Amino acid sequence: MTPQDNPEDLRELDDYSRILTLSRQGHKLRGIVLPQLLAMNEAAKQEGLSLLISSTYRSYEYQKMLFNRYVERDGLEEAERYSARPGHSQHQLGTVIDFGSIDETFAETPEGKWLYTNAWKYGFSLTYPKGLEDLTGYMWESWHYRYITPAGTEMEREFFLGIQEYLLRFFHQKKTFLMEKRID
Ligand code: DAL
Ligand code: ZN
Repeated sequence: MTPQDNPEDLRELDDYSRILTLSRQGHKLRGIVLPQLLAMNEAAKQEGLSLLISSTYRSYEYQKMLFNRYVERDGLEEAERYSARPGHSQHQLGTVIDFGSIDETFAETPEGKWLYTNAWKYGFSLTYPKGLEDLTGYMWESWHYRYITPAGTEMEREFFLGIQEYLLRFFHQKKTFLMEKRID
């Protein structure tokens, strides 16, 4: 990812403010995420839950400001355990949502538990699972879900132990082969 790599199909979530629960105005996600997000939101609602959308798309510049602020507060080594350098955050892809309180208490909330069990059905994958800091490079984030499509999460569960990092590494390693074999 570079500063120039920004998604082309970003949509304003304010257009769905009567359906979605938004922490503030101005949230954006890629259009491809919306159908499954709306379906997941509705399913949670049916169970009396409210999925608060707290962080979504972040530009390179915004991530840079955030990261620098954390480095100033906690020092580089500590900040890198929970915040990505600009150009390296999944949030810049426009396919990631942070839900709820964005802290460790989220895992124990009904919404946190529901997402952990059900998000995969809608194509959302927990990027930084508990106990995998050495593998992913980041601390456990029970609130950070990346949309990788329902086919993606199905594959992730079937062949990669439900761990996004393994799936990503596989695709990265096999990229040339897969691109050659691709049928559009
Ligand atoms: N908190 C995650 C790692 C990010 O900054 O993208
Ligand atoms: Zn996040």
